[in-house]
Amino acid sequence: MTSLLFPGSFDPFTRGHKDIARRAARICDKLYVAVMNNSKKDYTFTLDERVMMAKMILEEYPNIEVLGSDGLLVDIYKNLGCNAVVRGIRSESDFRYEAEMSMANRMLHPEYDVVLLPCRDDLSLISSSIVKEVGRYGGDISAMVPTQIVELVNDRLRKGRN
Ligand code: PNS
Repeated sequence: MTSLLFPGSFDPFTRGHKDIARRAARICDKLYVAVMNNSKKDYTFTLDERVMMAKMILEEYPNIEVLGSDGLLVDIYKNLGCNAVVRGIRSESDFRYEAEMSMANRMLHPEYDVVLLPCRDDLSLISSSIVKEVGRYGGDISAMVPTQIVELVNDRLRKGRN
């Protein structure tokens, strides 16, 4: 059985993330989506909120399981016995970031590997940061995040402005 691990901050989950999860789930038997923390980032949503949103969005896929962790990526990777990590890339700068992250993870765990999926053209400009910027100024985010979380994300972003 092949299992892949798709980790990320998902603050919040975007249509781009959903497309990567959907495609990754087609090339393995089991896809784990791990909602994690990046020590360089300040989050708008708590880890539990991000896990809850990812579960709402991905419940239609029977071979996807969502989990949350405040630990190291390689630890989940080892514990779950995954074959590789999956990450979506939108640009050359994403590629550089992924290459650095995979080198660091491979130093921690030599069996670590990554599959990079280029994102869909029409989703290449969407990021969680853009969603937050547009939403905070009252713009329409419905083309950027999955329908299930539009209201929830809008509520948080607009409150953050007061
Ligand atoms: O969506 P992001 O912010 O690009 O995801 C980055 C994430 C959360 C996958 C990365 O920061 C991570 O793996 N965090 C867990 C802690 C860890 O293992 N850090 C070492 C990575 S070199």
